[in-house]
Amino acid sequence: MITLSPCCNFRPICANERQALFNRIAPVYDNLNDLLSLGRHRIWKRMAVSWSGAKMGHRVLDVCCGSGDLALLLSEKVGSNGKVIGLDFSEEQLSVAASRQNSRTKNCFTNIEWVEGDALDLLFDDGWFDAITMGYGLRNVVDKRKAMQEILRVLKALECLSSTSIKAMSY
Ligand SMILES: C[S@@+](CC[C@H](N)C(=O)[O-])C[C@H]1O[C@@H](n2cnc3c(N)ncnc32)[C@H](O)[C@@H]1O
Repeated sequence: MITLSPCCNFRPICANERQALFNRIAPVYDNLNDLLSLGRHRIWKRMAVSWSGAKMGHRVLDVCCGSGDLALLLSEKVGSNGKVIGLDFSEEQLSVAASRQNSRTKNCFTNIEWVEGDALDLLFDDGWFDAITMGYGLRNVVDKRKAMQEILRVLKALECLSSTSIKAMSY
């Protein structure tokens, strides 16, 4: 007799399990990304940052930032007078992101703050950010509609939203 483990019975994975999963894979997440996308995720991320319209001095948010690829790119875009918030609910991913930030010497990288939080309940005021990015995050949140509502709430102008998923859907 074959017994399906709880992970294999096609039930949707709940938020806690996703969080635990991303915590567990944090040490190998970057290598996995390179391997699975054959390095192409680096190009897609540069495109997402460019599409976001982030400029020098802007205050920007990277939702579901993971190990910080987009936030680190945004950091250079907005410069020392700007501010980047990288938000994720995985403590381990944020810890990898922070150590990557600390290993960089350019002055601008001090403009990033890592925030442990839920994409479905953003802790920021309405219209707080000039630009928002989300890389491979929408597919991972349990409630996509709520995530989008929250993003639109904290964003100043719609044209400054850049998500790898949204662009993939609209092209
Ligand atoms: C596939 S990773 C993408 C990481 C990064 N943006 C990148 O492109 O490499 C998805 C991330 O979404 C985070 N995540 C999923 N649901 C979340 C939620 N509700 N709130 C905050 N972060 C969430 C996970 O912890 C994980 O780090």
